[in-house]
Amino acid sequence: MAIHNKSHSNHALMSLNKMRKDNNWKQKNAADFEKPDRVKLLHNIMDCCEFLKELPDESVQLICIDPPYNLELIGWDIYDNYIEWASTWINEAYRVLSKNGSMVIFGGIQFRDVKSGDLIDIIQHVRHNTKFKLINTIIWYYKNGMSAHRYFANRHEEVIWLAKTNDYYFDLDAVREPYPEEDLKLALKDKRLNPENTMKGKNPTNVWQIGRLNGNSKERVGHPTQKPVEIIDRFVKSLSYPGSIVLDFFAGSGTVGRVCITEGRHCLMCDSDPASKEYFNKHIELMKNLGQNTEYEEIKSVDKFFNIE
Ligand SMILES: C[S@@+](CC[C@H](N)C(=O)[O-])C[C@H]1O[C@@H](n2cnc3c(N)ncnc32)[C@H](O)[C@@H]1O
Repeated sequence: MAIHNKSHSNHALMSLNKMRKDNNWKQKNAADFEKPDRVKLLHNIMDCCEFLKELPDESVQLICIDPPYNLELIGWDIYDNYIEWASTWINEAYRVLSKNGSMVIFGGIQFRDVKSGDLIDIIQHVRHNTKFKLINTIIWYYKNGMSAHRYFANRHEEVIWLAKTNDYYFDLDAVREPYPEEDLKLALKDKRLNPENTMKGKNPTNVWQIGRLNGNSKERVGHPTQKPVEIIDRFVKSLSYPGSIVLDFFAGSGTVGRVCITEGRHCLMCDSDPASKEYFNKHIELMKNLGQNTEYEEIKSVDKFFNIE
């Protein structure tokens, strides 16, 4: 019997696909969700461990954090027993994540004299003491950086993607990269590739070339370790869906909040430094100057955010 093509005009296939989508998060993508007109945003100034205690179980889709490490460069970077402290927020993060949720942790393994308190320690801890699943290590590769004479100049940082269960939400289509015209022609001829996916673009892989923010970058709002919008955007689009909740409890300048406004995700942010709010206001000003949407509803308490009476 001839096998018909997999056209979506086939009603039986369409309803089967819908059933799969309704029951199985592996099949869902942004098109299955509605973007809210105005996102809710809460930005608290307090310690992250206290903040996390206020959040309900399994209420958050994506946690995207860039924690302090024991580099002792700035006041907020020093912890006596780093992993004991980190385990408190890692455990709370697991509790507040939804079953389809993910956590992304920025970090580094390049700190030469550091013996404890970097991404290596976090990976080791997560592996042996939690139920988190390590899905990917993303290499953030950049061409701009400091020069070096006693070692190879550093040109990448690492970011880990952890999921709570195997049924994690992942919208690859939202972040595929278009093929250059010539490559597309070749890819469409390649019988090993699915032409439908080829047309959508290629998998960006786990090595991402995205420039770091220089001192004079137009995106800069003054925070010393501010992350580029482009890298946060890729995580928000692929690991959360429109109308879901994204949490950053080391908010810094609030880059995650900025991306959430653009992408239609509700956002919870916390930072112990009161200057975090000033940095975030600068993000909003920059967005206005770029003619971007800056509408959001500012929520003052966690109870109001979750409509808890
Ligand atoms: C690496 S920065 C985050 C930068 C951010 N990703 C951005 O793009 O601007 C880490 C932030 O964690 C905050 N921080 C350090 N310890 C904290 C704690 N115990 N609770 C909440 N925030 C904390 C610091 O004030 C700092 O702003």
